Amino acid sequence: MIEINILKLNFNDEDFLYIRNIRKSVFNTELGISESELFDKYDETCDHFLIFNGEKIVGSVRIRSMDATIKLERMAILKEYRTKNYGKRCILQIKQYYSTKNFSQIILDSIYSVRGFYKKCGFIEEGKIFQRVGIDHIRMSLTF
Ligand SMILES: CC(C)(COP(=O)(O)OP(=O)(O)OC[C@H]1O[C@@H](n2cnc3c(N)ncnc32)[C@H](O)[C@@H]1OP(=O)(O)O)[C@@H](O)C(=O)NCCC(=O)NCCS
Repeated sequence: MIEINILKLNFNDEDFLYIRNIRKSVFNTELGISESELFDKYDETCDHFLIFNGEKIVGSVRIRSMDATIKLERMAILKEYRTKNYGKRCILQIKQYYSTKNFSQIILDSIYSVRGFYKKCGFIEEGKIFQRVGIDHIRMSLTF
């Protein structure tokens, strides 16, 4: 089984630079989302995670806490590291980490075309398709 490690960061940590670069590469360069949408006020209070494959940084994600629920946002695996199960392993580790902190649900707004990835991670679709940053999205949730 492939192994990954996740490293928790804050917005003010020097290593947040890596997260900036991953978001620019994946969401701006690759997906064409405007640079002005890549960062917002929640970055200052979220938990941020860098994802490692034992050798290299392969991606990042941020977590926003809301009562008993966490919201998973800005999930990105760099293109050259995709479909190696790093994303799925990351979500499993996030789930394990937050279950020890008394959270019992993860919600997220999936880009509609990648919802199959989150389904493989156990999420179910909720509600209707909506648009954000010009891209179709759908709310998904996982209760544990
Ligand atoms: C979506 C993303 C995070 C998936 O990460 P990944 O590491 O490539 O995914 P994994 O290898 O862990 O895939 C887990 C499973 O989901 C499937 N899967 C991966 N990407 C998928 C996709 N886009 N659509 C449907 N299924 C997908 C895999 O085939 C795998 O299936 P398996 O368990 O049967 O082998 C990654 O493709 C990415 O960063 N995309 C660009 C940014 C993005 O869209 N982020 C999501 C914002 S909501």
